Amino acid sequence: MNFIEEIDTSKLPQHIAVIMDGNGRWAKGQGLMRVAGHKKGSKAVRETVEASAELGIRYLTLYTFSTENWNRPKIEVDTLMKLLVSSLKKEIKTLQDNDIALRAIGNLSSLPAKAQRELEEVIEKTRNNSRMTLTLALSYGAREELIKSVKEISLKVKKDLISPHLIDDAVIKEHLYTHDLPDVDLLIRTSGEQRISNFMLWQIAYAELYFTPVLWPDFTKEHLYEAIYNYQKRERRFGKTSEQIN
Ligand code: IPE
Ligand code: IPE
Ligand code: MG
Repeated sequence: MNFIEEIDTSKLPQHIAVIMDGNGRWAKGQGLMRVAGHKKGSKAVRETVEASAELGIRYLTLYTFSTENWNRPKIEVDTLMKLLVSSLKKEIKTLQDNDIALRAIGNLSSLPAKAQRELEEVIEKTRNNSRMTLTLALSYGAREELIKSVKEISLKVKKDLISPHLIDDAVIKEHLYTHDLPDVDLLIRTSGEQRISNFMLWQIAYAELYFTPVLWPDFTKEHLYEAIYNYQKRERRFGKTSEQIN
């Protein structure tokens, strides 16, 4: 099936988030080191970013490194951080050519200084691009994000800047890393794992979940089109009845 021809571009998910998983298993399957899987994975990133922008997706968020991923062997963590820096250097052109603004969410101060600098530079250079916002979740954990939000709100309560009974969805959202992003419409996870792994717990409350066995380094534009096609076949009810929706 040629999925792209079946996609209704007037009903695209506004915000797609991806848990890019399976690099290690891909490498193992090829008899290579895990690192080779991460390298090949960065090609899938470019392909997905380009395809999303071309289609007209407004927000794409990629789970790139979790707070829990710091617990991996040092050699793997170091390599991933180096790969981040080299990819940013290399892909700035892709971002500019496609009018894409880069953003990052997570505990960014825990990244190596070099990665922070490179990230800041690319974010600054692409700031005024408007076709799509690409957000990298780096040293990101949803629980860490929620804790940060609770701490900030508590301080405001203590200083009488906000009254506890006025704390609502909007107030919580304002204090999340994703305060300026809409909720996730479609969450894709590759590699066959069917779990969330501490990714955007608040923001995916009503996301459509799509799990594919494809390993991230093998993920292509066609796979993205298939996920969007699948998404468009669903009925999002947000608690209402089907009759109310139609
Ligand atoms: C995803 O691939 C990349 C990161 C988590 C950084 P993995 O490295 O988790 O690959 P698997 O799950 O071991 O196959
Ligand atoms: C989730 O993948 C994190 C990223 C894709 C960056 P993991 O491979 O770390 O998740 P678990 O450990 O299998 O849950
Ligand atoms: Mg994994």
